[in-house]
Amino acid sequence: MKLNFRQPSLDGRIEVPGDKSISHRSIMFGALANGKTVIRHFLKGEDCLSTIDCFRKLGVEIEETDEEIIVHGTGWDGLKEPSAILDTGNSGTTTRLMLGILAGLPFHSVMIGDESIARRPMDRVTVPLTSMGADIAGRDNGRFTPLSIRGSKLKTIEYRLPVASAQVKSAIIFAALQAEGESVIIEPEATRDHTEKMIEQFGGIVRREEDRIIIKGGQSFKGTDVYVPGDISSAAFFMVAAAIAPGSEIVLENTGLNETRTGIVDVFKQMGADMTIEQTSFKGEEIGTITVRTSKLKGTEISGALIPRLIDEIPVIALLATQAEGDTIIRDAEELKVKETNRIDTVVDELKKLGADIEATDDGMIIRGKSKLHGGSVSSHGDHRIGMVMAIAALIADGEVELENPEAIAVSYPEFFEHVNQLIK
Ligand code: S3P
Repeated sequence: MKLNFRQPSLDGRIEVPGDKSISHRSIMFGALANGKTVIRHFLKGEDCLSTIDCFRKLGVEIEETDEEIIVHGTGWDGLKEPSAILDTGNSGTTTRLMLGILAGLPFHSVMIGDESIARRPMDRVTVPLTSMGADIAGRDNGRFTPLSIRGSKLKTIEYRLPVASAQVKSAIIFAALQAEGESVIIEPEATRDHTEKMIEQFGGIVRREEDRIIIKGGQSFKGTDVYVPGDISSAAFFMVAAAIAPGSEIVLENTGLNETRTGIVDVFKQMGADMTIEQTSFKGEEIGTITVRTSKLKGTEISGALIPRLIDEIPVIALLATQAEGDTIIRDAEELKVKETNRIDTVVDELKKLGADIEATDDGMIIRGKSKLHGGSVSSHGDHRIGMVMAIAALIADGEVELENPEAIAVSYPEFFEHVNQLIK
């Protein structure tokens, strides 16, 4: 795809699509609940459609209209042994969370994903689940897909997460909900808490005591209405676009502002961005309007507890940092290496091709600003977020950017280019 934007200003209001993490979980809890769940502003990206497809194979009736997704929940007991392989596509969230659900259900299932999923570590989930009594086999001792799961009776667990991962935490929560007694999960750093919030939305109970999450087994859920806020991880691309494109002002309506996800807002403040935020409502999750204008930015340091609160935004923050005065240093972000691609390598390699002064480190990167970006030939590497970073970089580049494999963007933001075109003045 040839991107020849000629350095436009950006202006206007958009509502980014529904949050990916919350959309996945709304299908999962909707299926596990008894009765009907109606989901509005659901993200119809490929990842979440994989979750719908898996639950249909487990016997759940799911209706799709333009406005709503309706899940006819079967309860835990109503899910059925699938007669086909569960294909999780490119979605780590689907693969890992489904493992926690399937581990305790009385039947056999097989899970497979795409080439990227086949490279992503699943032992971070299969190891704790196995210690709860799960029977999971897979390539390289259960480290990778394809995986085969024979549901069994599960025991409780007290588990300190070796990495700050909401996917691992959530998989264990789903398994703990099926065990008899109380399980405890201890987080090294707080990670996104959409699973915990949704347990409560569906009539269940979860306790948080400092870094400990306590889950009682044997809970059942009741179908409900879910509104999915706009995904701050998708909004991030336009927040950055507005901050770096001259003469711009963008308003992002109905964006999720859950504290475990707003690390990018903190970074915008640290870097001196011209931004205002107004909380507008609360529907299980905090929601608000974010306005960003062209900004004079300064470099910053991003590390520690901030990392899990912005892990998916680091690639686009790297682009932002190329337009800040001074150095930006990102540390403690090794987890980027096991995302859809090794995002330390892919973002550094691709931004360099457009003239960025950026260097990979063992646990992050160093970006030296401010650089003038030029045109060039780049690739998404099949990673939706890398594709969008490069498309936003193309907005400020002096010259044409040829983007290879832009289709990957449909994983989380099918309307991305429509929104880009709508915002160009
Ligand atoms: C997610 C958790 C994060 C994040 C991913 C979605 C979730 O992954 O990067 O995009 O929905 O729980 P990790 O749990 O691997 O950190």
